[in-house]
Amino acid sequence: MREKVTVPSIRARKGGPKISMVTAYDYPGAVIADRAGIDVILVGDSAANVVHGMATTLEFGMEETIMHARAVKRANPVALFVVDMPWLSFHISPEDAVRNAGRLVQEGGAEAVKLEGGRKRLPVIDRILDAEIPVMGHLGLTPQSVHAMGGFKVQGKAVDAAREMIEDAIALANAGCFSIVLEGVPDVLGEIITKEVDVPTIGIGAGPGTDGQVLVFHDVLGLGSGKYAKFVRSYANLADEAVAALERYVADVGSGDFPSEEESYHVSEEIAAEILKGRKSG
Ligand code: KIV
Repeated sequence: MREKVTVPSIRARKGGPKISMVTAYDYPGAVIADRAGIDVILVGDSAANVVHGMATTLEFGMEETIMHARAVKRANPVALFVVDMPWLSFHISPEDAVRNAGRLVQEGGAEAVKLEGGRKRLPVIDRILDAEIPVMGHLGLTPQSVHAMGGFKVQGKAVDAAREMIEDAIALANAGCFSIVLEGVPDVLGEIITKEVDVPTIGIGAGPGTDGQVLVFHDVLGLGSGKYAKFVRSYANLADEAVAALERYVADVGSGDFPSEEESYHVSEEIAAEILKGRKSG
């Protein structure tokens, strides 16, 4: 039996055994991730893209997030359970942000929340932490800023931008974030930030130098469209396997091979004869 993964136990992994994190959006996904020994399960707002087929995460709100979180929570994961704060759920006011983070805990069962952004999010982070809700930061290619960034582009490639991100990361760590996701940044910046902050960094497209790695469930399992970002490693090709399985099902239904005797329910011949009495088919 694995011990429950908690915010303090993840925090204590700084510089220690690498942290594995994956997204999950529903009950079976969470069960599978937990069985595999994943450290952190995230209900990411990437559900917008991979589950709902939306082009950006900006259409994804609190109600959808809570619905996905509740499904994951029912798996009672040993992994630490983190839920993403959707766009606009923490941008309006610190009060609103605390209320929304609180809903993710109270209604969604989150053990921590993750939110995108650097120093300008500190007032909100302070208030959420003050409500005893642990916060995971998220810097770099933050998809909720897609329009401000002019697209999904690797961030921190220029010296000034990289320096700004280092200062953001230090500020988030000093504010009390228990870990920081670094997304879509050059490997060297992932490594520098990891050395500069005293909390674990978890990278996605941030090179091997971070304290852990996170990937999207559908990407790891090859359940997506087949076009994955450069940083994705797919460990299976379940979409193709699923199509092949469904093709066999279609063929078996067409040929009458499914269902078989063993796959059908039966009654005794006497009962069947009684049911048939007086019927056209009798
Ligand atoms: O929403 C998400 O899946 C994420 C991960 C990429 C970290 O934020």
